[in-house]
Amino acid sequence: MPSSLRLRVASLGDLAPETSRKFTLTCGAVTLEGFLINYRGTHYAYANECQHLPMTMDWVENRFFDAAGAYLVCGTHGATYEPHTGLCVAGPCVGEVLRALPVLVEDGAIWVGCPE
Ligand code: FES
Repeated sequence: MPSSLRLRVASLGDLAPETSRKFTLTCGAVTLEGFLINYRGTHYAYANECQHLPMTMDWVENRFFDAAGAYLVCGTHGATYEPHTGLCVAGPCVGEVLRALPVLVEDGAIWVGCPE
């Protein structure tokens, strides 16, 4: 991942399990909002774009997980995604997948890169 196309989002250990952190990443001429999650000890990152409609998912700022910490839920119409795959498993866009962003853990930090 070229250093100019990645962003240091957190230090390792910053995010408790089943929590998230939003960020803004510039990829060439495009700026995208994304979110990093810690799901059962592993970090994943996705563009903050619901696959139902072109809307952000967190209707409460930085809130993506359901109450049980089992799924990511869009606040608008309830699309429900698997945290580790981004696959929508319930709601209006079943079978669609969140746009994943590459995550790299290096030197005690968590970096997120631009999509391929
Ligand atoms: S915009 Fe996300 S479920 Fe409709």
